[in-house]
Amino acid sequence: MTSIQNIDLRSDTVTKPTLEMRAAMAAAEVGDDVYLEDPTVNRLQERAAEIFQREAALFVPSGSMGNQIAVRLHTSPGQEMITEERGHIYNYEMAAMSAISGVLARPVRAEDGILRWDLISPSIRPRVYYRAQTGLVALENTHNMAGGTVYTARQVEEICEPAHEAGLPVHMDGARIFNAAAALDTDVASLTRSCDSVMFCLSKGLGAPVGSMLVGSREFIDRARSLRKLLGGGMRQTGILAAAGLIALEKMPARLHEDHANARLLAEFLEQIPGLSLDSSKVRTNILVIRIACADLDSAQLALRLRQNGVLVGTIDPRTIRLLTHLDVSRDQIHRAARVFREVLEAFTPTSVLAP
Ligand SMILES: Cc1ncc(COP(=O)(O)O)c(C=O)c1O
Repeated sequence: MTSIQNIDLRSDTVTKPTLEMRAAMAAAEVGDDVYLEDPTVNRLQERAAEIFQREAALFVPSGSMGNQIAVRLHTSPGQEMITEERGHIYNYEMAAMSAISGVLARPVRAEDGILRWDLISPSIRPRVYYRAQTGLVALENTHNMAGGTVYTARQVEEICEPAHEAGLPVHMDGARIFNAAAALDTDVASLTRSCDSVMFCLSKGLGAPVGSMLVGSREFIDRARSLRKLLGGGMRQTGILAAAGLIALEKMPARLHEDHANARLLAEFLEQIPGLSLDSSKVRTNILVIRIACADLDSAQLALRLRQNGVLVGTIDPRTIRLLTHLDVSRDQIHRAARVFREVLEAFTPTSVLAP
């Protein structure tokens, strides 16, 4: 349990629905969505398809389910999927690609999380019958664990074009694609146009309590709906959730630049604190990944001390923490969090040996 005064920087998933969302949820017109009769869900799906300039969209309970439905639909058992080494789809989805799709990850490292064709192509398997075949390329925009880094539309196209020529579909894990669009001052349709399918989350920076969307061709989404049912994701009067999702989709993208400005400001404060290693000039969206450069302090200890002072952060590994700004973190709280970091870190001696 977190107290009301805590500044929760663990994730942008911790946002609570706004009053407008709660009112819309209470008033939502609903029906049985397994019968395709929920008007609010239908409207959400139509709007998502329109915004992404695609034929169709599907509301799914989570980003993980959206990603894994895409993996299953694009691949066959025994194939490989190319993903960036720190990708969510590979590291944080319960090895679902193997459990659900019989697919093996072929991870590729990109320093900033942003893959390029010259990094991907050496990992594509030769077309010989006795080798596992590459079935899919998955990209992540923004890249969560690389610190909210961003693919431009051009960078995505420069992967999709040769991938398609090689007969490979490309799935976009766009959990935070609206953050990427805000950072680049572009729209999500242009950013994802060349991908075969896109998943995006309503329940992260956009602030909805539950839900993600999968978008693609009508045929792809029809198949995705069956698979969602197979996975137990067929929901009934889920217009209650879609009503909040509609507000997330229509209204919340416009405020994401506030989160990005807060993240940049926090990074500028934190990079001045001895014992923390980060580069504020690289912060483009709402995620900070910070190395700890104190020999006598690991990430769990730091997170505990911060928590004792009302600041919650995530840990990635013993030397790395992660902070996200979001709807429920104000500018004042950014200043307060920076002060707490400074006070906590003053007790430790930084060492250059541990700096990356
Ligand atoms: C990049 C990325 N993709 C997918 C997901 C999965 O979303 P969910 O938690 O709704 O399953 C997350 C969640 O944090 C994420 O950060």
